[in-house]
Amino acid sequence: MSHIDELLRTMTLTEKLGQLNLVTADRAITGPATDADIDAAIRAGKVGGVFNLWGREAISATQRLAREESRLRIPLLFGLDVLHGHRTIFPVPLAEAGAFDPDLWMRTARVAALEAAEDGVNLTFAPMLDVSRDPRWGRIVEGPGEDPLTASIFARAKIHGFQGDDLRSPAAIAATAKHFCGGGAATAGRDYASADISPRQLREIYLPPFRAAVLAGCAAIMPAFNCIDGAPMTAHVELLRHYLREELGFDGVVLSDYTAIGELIEHGVAGDRTEAAALALNAGVDMDMVSGVFLEHLPEALARGLVREDIIDAAVRRVLALKERLGLFDDPVRLVVSCAARTEAAQELARDCARRSIVLLTNRRILPIDKNLRRLAVIGPLADARMEMQGPWSAAGRPETCVTILEGLKAALPDCEVVHAEGVGLDRDDDCGVAGACELARRADLTVLCMGEAAYMSGEAACRATPDLPGAQQQLAQAVIATGTPNALLLVSGRPLMIGDLAESAGAIVATWFPGAMAGHAIADVLTGAFNPCARLPITWPRVTGQIPIFYAQRASGRPTDEANPFTSKYLDVAVTPLFPFGHGLSYGQASLENLRLDRERYFTGEDIGVSVDVICSEECARRETVFFFLHDRVASVARPIMELKRWRQIDLAPGERMTVSLTLGIEDLVFPGVELRPIVEPGAFDLFVGFSAAPETLLRASFSLLARPDAA
Ligand code: NOJ
Repeated sequence: MSHIDELLRTMTLTEKLGQLNLVTADRAITGPATDADIDAAIRAGKVGGVFNLWGREAISATQRLAREESRLRIPLLFGLDVLHGHRTIFPVPLAEAGAFDPDLWMRTARVAALEAAEDGVNLTFAPMLDVSRDPRWGRIVEGPGEDPLTASIFARAKIHGFQGDDLRSPAAIAATAKHFCGGGAATAGRDYASADISPRQLREIYLPPFRAAVLAGCAAIMPAFNCIDGAPMTAHVELLRHYLREELGFDGVVLSDYTAIGELIEHGVAGDRTEAAALALNAGVDMDMVSGVFLEHLPEALARGLVREDIIDAAVRRVLALKERLGLFDDPVRLVVSCAARTEAAQELARDCARRSIVLLTNRRILPIDKNLRRLAVIGPLADARMEMQGPWSAAGRPETCVTILEGLKAALPDCEVVHAEGVGLDRDDDCGVAGACELARRADLTVLCMGEAAYMSGEAACRATPDLPGAQQQLAQAVIATGTPNALLLVSGRPLMIGDLAESAGAIVATWFPGAMAGHAIADVLTGAFNPCARLPITWPRVTGQIPIFYAQRASGRPTDEANPFTSKYLDVAVTPLFPFGHGLSYGQASLENLRLDRERYFTGEDIGVSVDVICSEECARRETVFFFLHDRVASVARPIMELKRWRQIDLAPGERMTVSLTLGIEDLVFPGVELRPIVEPGAFDLFVGFSAAPETLLRASFSLLARPDAA
């Protein structure tokens, strides 16, 4: 009999339900406060895991309660939202996604896991895999952007980074893919709001990243808060039980979001807490985060015949199996020893990751900064804002070690006089500092405007109906630009911001996002040209809020936009095109693409499709280039998106270098959910589009035909 079977045999119902109970400590506050006496509950065997607690001493003391003072001595899970670094804070996930570098994604997760493990954490509620096309939604910052393929590759990299090859390694932590699924489709970009997602969108957009997570061996899954088509995800039988458990064969732990099981009552699908507990358990949820309803109400649900004990046992088994996979029964406070060299390496990685995440959006010959610059004015509320650089979800970060933009620029330009004015507050309407800031700008050779959001404006419960520059920042930027001094506008944010006429008037625009601990150095590296920017947008950047949702993989209209024809798909008041397309991002110097070719014009189903394209770098400087490969199925039984990303390749080019990028597409790239939503491939004509972004006018095109195999019936 296995260890887990033996344990189960000896457990009382309360002890079983205790294992399903995930409670919050209060070192970080990530939801409504509770006043539970955690220590007493642990001693009584009523807790399976604790989150929002870290630090070796605190964790050891709490683990000791379970190991020495509870009857069965079952070790606890210790969870935390380690979204983009633990002690060393890396750029926010949306920023990091723009690096389009799976190896980098993996390495930052590995460092985060190591630092979190060192602090006693053994479970992270990450990666967040919500595909989202709505910058109003505050949580767009936590995920990989708009594209399901990017999200799937991101999922694999992060899970591998957090979990390593063996969860037993003390430096590995269990990953939780969240929020399953459709959190990013919340109506009107409002957190916790319901989503209407068609079964096709589920299959094409929202499920693939979670499928990738499960295939990558993700230890846990967290259902989304929201309800999809009338079924709250916390009780979604079709998706949790049938899709996740049965179709994908996921045998890890499903843990609810914060009080989400209790909230089934507010959703209107449970009449009381007992029904809520039964609905979630029966749908496949194993652990109850904070509601306490499993512990308190499953006994009654059993008595009322709403649940069966073997379902409870199966959930307990999965929780215990995770503890065993983590090696907690043998080594409950897994020892990871820190050292200064590792901290330094982590900071170096944070700097590298940040500069690979910073997107140069426009550049009218302003950047890189001239090495002989004499006087630089660094203006705006984010210029010297140490606390804000980390962005949201950085509870264990060390804000005091963050490098501000001002500090970074001063360090990088030792011979330049660097002056600074805040100008206006981050979120106040007071504009009395504008005149002084303009005065500084007038006397400078270049102005760097540091604008954007405070960290609290992105993340959970941080949706914005108008995601623009808050307070009086737009006014400040306009006034400073009007001085005529050359300027570069930095946008610090967790989402694309609507910047109105600044898109045209700024000399250069740089999306720094929330760059993390090494913000100032990374930004200075990019602005001075010490590092040639190479990040690309993982999300389409709208011109105005009214264009949302806007994304590259749209379906064609029967009346495609035609400026000359009023009865076509467009707006009266704004262009249909985004401000910046998916994949957009500039580097210093130029690059071009030529000679896209396929190895044949026709392929039988199942044959590899060989693709090559030449990339040419101009003479000015070396660069890292990202080449995107999109596919379009011209005629199918179901209208396909006008483009779908199938691959990207990153290459490093020396000045003047010409390089051929070759790859093969396979049958899996041509598959789509057919009329019945089952994966199919249909013979016919396909277009392959290749470019540096999804901007249609810049893409190279090659076409091919897919033929049914002659031997196919
Ligand atoms: C609520 C959030 O939705 C979720 O992502 C997070 O993991 C939990 N709170 C725990 O902090």
